[in-house]
Amino acid sequence: MDSIVVKGGAALSGVIPIAGAKNAALTLMPATLLTDEPLTLTNVPRLSDIKTTNELLSSLGTEVAVMQDGQIIVLDTAEITNHTAHYDIVRKMRASILVLGPMLARDGHAIVSLPGGCAIGARPVDMHLKGLEAMGAKIELKEGYIHATAPSGLKGATYELPFASVGATENILMAATLAKGTTVLKNAAREPEIVDLADCLIKMGAQIEGAGSSTITIQGVDKLHGATHPVVTDRIELGTYMLAPVIAGGEVELLGGRIDLLEAFCEKLDAAGVSIQETKRGLKVSRRSDLTKAVDVTTEPFPGFPTDLQAQMMAMLCTARGSSTLKETIFENRFMHAPELIRMGANIDVQGGVATVTGVDKLKGAPVMATDLRASVSLILAGLAAEGETIVSRVYHLDRGYERLEEKLMACGASIERVTA
Ligand code: EPZ
Repeated sequence: MDSIVVKGGAALSGVIPIAGAKNAALTLMPATLLTDEPLTLTNVPRLSDIKTTNELLSSLGTEVAVMQDGQIIVLDTAEITNHTAHYDIVRKMRASILVLGPMLARDGHAIVSLPGGCAIGARPVDMHLKGLEAMGAKIELKEGYIHATAPSGLKGATYELPFASVGATENILMAATLAKGTTVLKNAAREPEIVDLADCLIKMGAQIEGAGSSTITIQGVDKLHGATHPVVTDRIELGTYMLAPVIAGGEVELLGGRIDLLEAFCEKLDAAGVSIQETKRGLKVSRRSDLTKAVDVTTEPFPGFPTDLQAQMMAMLCTARGSSTLKETIFENRFMHAPELIRMGANIDVQGGVATVTGVDKLKGAPVMATDLRASVSLILAGLAAEGETIVSRVYHLDRGYERLEEKLMACGASIERVTA
């Protein structure tokens, strides 16, 4: 199992290219199941989750062609030859649930393993299933699998999500493109990845209005055709690397960075004393003085502060001046980075869904353990400014969501290397 070793102290200077969004690619790829013509995705990030999705789609009958070192993928599902997404793949990556809606819409039946929980929470899929049932699907749960059928096809329906679930919005949106009639999805998630999915589906011939707002209206069509679509910039990778020069000092330019993808996050950084300049190529980030200021953060669905940047923000607040509160409202167990940061000398008190962080002068390097994707990268960020060496183990978590992380940081002067056990 690989580890990453970070020696703290080097201020950063240079440029970091931001890749395509993992969480956009993971919903764009299953869209191939909606058409018998090729779907070409460009600006695809090179991540293990993408490889897992390629495996999953191949098992369903998709021809997968990977080009340009993984940045271009052509997905061709002339026919779905197997309608079962097995547990051994789904358990590796929960987003596999996103093949359910498309398979059901295209062929009227699908069997998908229940994804199960993960480190950050139970992560049920009840809202996905209720939305599909509202469209006429019959859903049965048998031996850990979802058995979904819609023998006479899905029908347009009006459905209000109890919570603005990203995955449920994506599954229902994709299914509705081929349903008979009109679907109105209320309290829909508004994330940029939803807008990116809708843009791609519209290129494929879908009739969708309102993506990015809380109400999405979809007029079903008989067939979708192929398309070529670039994956939107990864706003979570962007936010993660914006914090690197804030924590380590120096200045970094994030190529492809866009403020509109992260307004709530950028407002908090500005309040904490961070300078964010828009350039022709992206965003230039540095801290305005030697010490950042404490700020209070509450995670919310987009356009609120993203839960996927909560752990990284905590790493920054560990050495900010004053006391900050971080309220996690999206997942029930998303503070596992806190005990690891405390081992590095951070002063953090977690009470239920609220973490209170009191800034200390410096963290101390230590061996720490990654527990989930975003917790892992928060430990790397903390290590950039910690005294001494930080060894982050179980970095396979990182490889799911960050391509070539150590190369990108090394190129800006960080002392960081991957050690293969
Ligand atoms: C997506 O997960 C992202 N993953 C997550 O990113 C992200 O944290 C999350 O959205 C919130 O923004 C992908 O896009 C692949 P949700 P998803 O459905 O769709 C509850 C990362 O680090 N819920 O919006 O699973 C659920 O338990 C990952 O890149 C139900 O109760 O998130 C959670 O508490 C982590 N029933 C909350 O809603 C349901 O049917 C938000 O879940 C669905 C969700």
